[in-house]
Amino acid sequence: MSALPDLHDRYTGSRFAFEQRRKTLARGVSSAIRANQLPVPLTFVEGRGAHVRDIDGNDYVDYALAYGPMVLGHSPEPVLYAAHQQLSEAISYGGSHRRESELSEAICRTVPCAELCVFSNSGSEAVHAAVRIARAATGRRRVIKFLGHFHGWLDPLAVGNPGHWDASPATAGQDPLASSSVSVLPWNDLDALHATLTDDVAAVIMEPVAVNGGCFTADPGYLEEVRERTQQVGALLIFDEVITGFRLSLGGAQERLDVLPDLAVLGKALGAGFPISAVCGRADVMEVVASGAVAHIGTSNANPVCAAAAVASVTELERRAHEIYPQLEDTGAQLAEILRDEAAEAGLPLVVNSVGAAAHAFYASTSVTSYADTVRTDPAAYRVFAEALLDEGLHVIPRGLLYVSTMHGPAELARTRSAVARAAASAATSLRSRS
Ligand SMILES: Cc1ncc(COP(=O)(O)O)c(C=O)c1O
Repeated sequence: MSALPDLHDRYTGSRFAFEQRRKTLARGVSSAIRANQLPVPLTFVEGRGAHVRDIDGNDYVDYALAYGPMVLGHSPEPVLYAAHQQLSEAISYGGSHRRESELSEAICRTVPCAELCVFSNSGSEAVHAAVRIARAATGRRRVIKFLGHFHGWLDPLAVGNPGHWDASPATAGQDPLASSSVSVLPWNDLDALHATLTDDVAAVIMEPVAVNGGCFTADPGYLEEVRERTQQVGALLIFDEVITGFRLSLGGAQERLDVLPDLAVLGKALGAGFPISAVCGRADVMEVVASGAVAHIGTSNANPVCAAAAVASVTELERRAHEIYPQLEDTGAQLAEILRDEAAEAGLPLVVNSVGAAAHAFYASTSVTSYADTVRTDPAAYRVFAEALLDEGLHVIPRGLLYVSTMHGPAELARTRSAVARAAASAATSLRSRS
């Protein structure tokens, strides 16, 4: 039998561009996570609706969606229009402008806990601001975070991240002392919480739906108990809604789950792809910023173009919420079902957890209902499947996260079903030959 054809011919342009980039751009990517894409980090040239196109001319149905922000799909008209309008006025002032108050008003209208806001550029920065606000508001240092929850790349909270099983630093170069006042607990474990949540804790921070670790929802009553216990000891509850905000419902996970945090962090979907993030929360807590006690500083905070885009994004999501969120719910469920059905048909062990417009797939033969369960999954085997999906024209995050947008319609889902069927068959074959 002749040698297998080189499936990677379709990535020649991306491979060449990657090699060129590496000469001047460290590791050839601008975020370490992007280096994980196999067979090579793709070089993209266009994003429209539910599709992205690479430098080789390959068109993909996009389930990575820029790691989450593109709830309205790529290049949504109202967002483009608003950004262009703002660009015709100015790029940045380093001063106040009407877009920032339009945006803070839009957030206070749509996010249940929001009475006051501040803006930053990335989710990581806004998490940092939220923790600083919590420490200032409570006069305490200790912070509780959870194993397998992700809150960005900055030193203090980059411990116990997805793929890690203890509180050791996530990366070389990280200052372990920066996390000295951070306790990392298992999530969904009330005993662990009760043992650690004492009256010296400034804040408990969590992803209210643990999307990064595997798209897990809390046990019934858990979030309510965390809410009550934090109130009892005078600690603040921070929901990191960088993924869940504007994705799991207009008002984020807090609205969907009906649990009100003291502070929430927003990013990703807020800017529809433009780099902007926010901390919002109760006015009495945010008072430490309002009074000037907490310095919240940044040259590009609430950049007018990003703020204009975010206003357009939130306004569009708000205007069409009654239609958008049921549609996202349905599309997310359909995607999960397609993956489960076609993997089963091909004999590929696949578990798909899905919550609204977010999902996480694992190579596993038994259900994965908690972060602890992820030890029984095989991320390397999933990456083989992810690569096969890419070969079949579906752009996915190699770690298993999947996102849908309002632009994923019946045509994309039909194409997805046949692509998943072929990819699952090919991955099953290559994984069988590997073992
Ligand atoms: C829940 C959560 N918080 C914070 C962050 C950090 O956001 P950024 O990458 O914009 O710094 C992320 C990024 O993926 C995230 O998923």
